[in-house]
Amino acid sequence: MRTRVTELFGIEYPIFAFSHCRDVVAAVSRAGGMGVLGALYFTPEELEVELDWIDRNVGGRPYGVDVVMPAAYEGAGLGDAGELLDRLRGMIPDGHRAFVEDLLAEHGVEPSGEGAGKALLGWTDATARPQVEVALRHPIALLANALGPPPADVVAQAHERGVKVAGLASNARHARKQVEVGVDIIVAQGTEAGGHTGDVATMVLIPEVVDAVGRDTLVLAAGGIGRGRQMAAGMALGADGVWTGSIWLTVDEADTPERTRAKLLAATSRDTVRSRSWTGKPARLLRTAWTDAWESENAPGTLPMPLQFMLISDALRRVHRSGDGELVTFPVGQIVGSMDRTRPVARVVYDLIEEYIEAVDRLKTITGA
Ligand SMILES: Cc1cc2nc3c(=O)[nH]c(=O)nc-3n(C[C@H](O)[C@H](O)[C@H](O)COP(=O)(O)O)c2cc1C
Repeated sequence: MRTRVTELFGIEYPIFAFSHCRDVVAAVSRAGGMGVLGALYFTPEELEVELDWIDRNVGGRPYGVDVVMPAAYEGAGLGDAGELLDRLRGMIPDGHRAFVEDLLAEHGVEPSGEGAGKALLGWTDATARPQVEVALRHPIALLANALGPPPADVVAQAHERGVKVAGLASNARHARKQVEVGVDIIVAQGTEAGGHTGDVATMVLIPEVVDAVGRDTLVLAAGGIGRGRQMAAGMALGADGVWTGSIWLTVDEADTPERTRAKLLAATSRDTVRSRSWTGKPARLLRTAWTDAWESENAPGTLPMPLQFMLISDALRRVHRSGDGELVTFPVGQIVGSMDRTRPVARVVYDLIEEYIEAVDRLKTITGA
């Protein structure tokens, strides 16, 4: 396939795959797309190990790294990561801690936690910058950022090293702001998407963003893309390629915990909800007893980013390991309804392309082209 993004990166297919799992990232790039590793959950040292591994296993193909530098968060400007963590810990109300522990106890989840030690990872400018430094020491082709325009100096550092910068945007105004700070590629992500997401559907968002950013900026369509027909739709709406996340959670190579994988494979497209119960900002998650509990009358209300994730990250780790399983949730998009079997990454890429071709051929017969 030839589009502006395949030309730019020298890839076979304009398919970008966001994943926190290095095996998935390397496999997508080897299959002709572009894997992008979510750095969020790694310390700088861990990220170094992951990227070393990818460098050895990606077969010389391009790959990217994604960081989360939110434009707005609680405690912004409070100092370096260490100080920030102490200050923020003190801002979590006891009532919230008690709500979480009571909820876990109701579902038979083991009580002992590891504490909120790793919980701040990557959710702030202070913690994401060391990740960016590590990433830029590796031969990455793309640096992506979620939750607002990346700082201008980070864009400049990437560009100095010949690395393109992508930014996620869920409306046209945010997309324009990203272009103003020098972002090369807008990932226009509709509300169907897993993870942090806005409220405009992909079908409406893509043409709005394409028109808003002008022809010099590349646009990738994201949110609800898991099959070739959806890929064709994204391209028809004006995108230069597609950016996917959810569908990689159930591939053979993914390190998704078994209980989560089983729930994802069984879920329908109606089983997700936009909830603040994960990070404090609206994110699409699998709807379970966890998300319902935060909507209930006795819920204390969610905390602003990054406090909510600090509050719940250890609890969710325990939920994945023990208890009745009803609280098990995960960020996933509405495409979860189509994720009904486990396939290797290369097969998913092949199926996307094959169905894309069928879709385009069908459209050609309509116009007699
Ligand atoms: C489990 C999960 C975690 C995600 N975490 C991030 C993240 O850390 N940074 C980011 O830029 N996007 C993140 N996203 C969003 C993806 O990059 C992507 O935009 C989205 O998954 C596309 O929609 P889809 O899920 O319908 O494919 C996440 C998505 C999922 C499913």
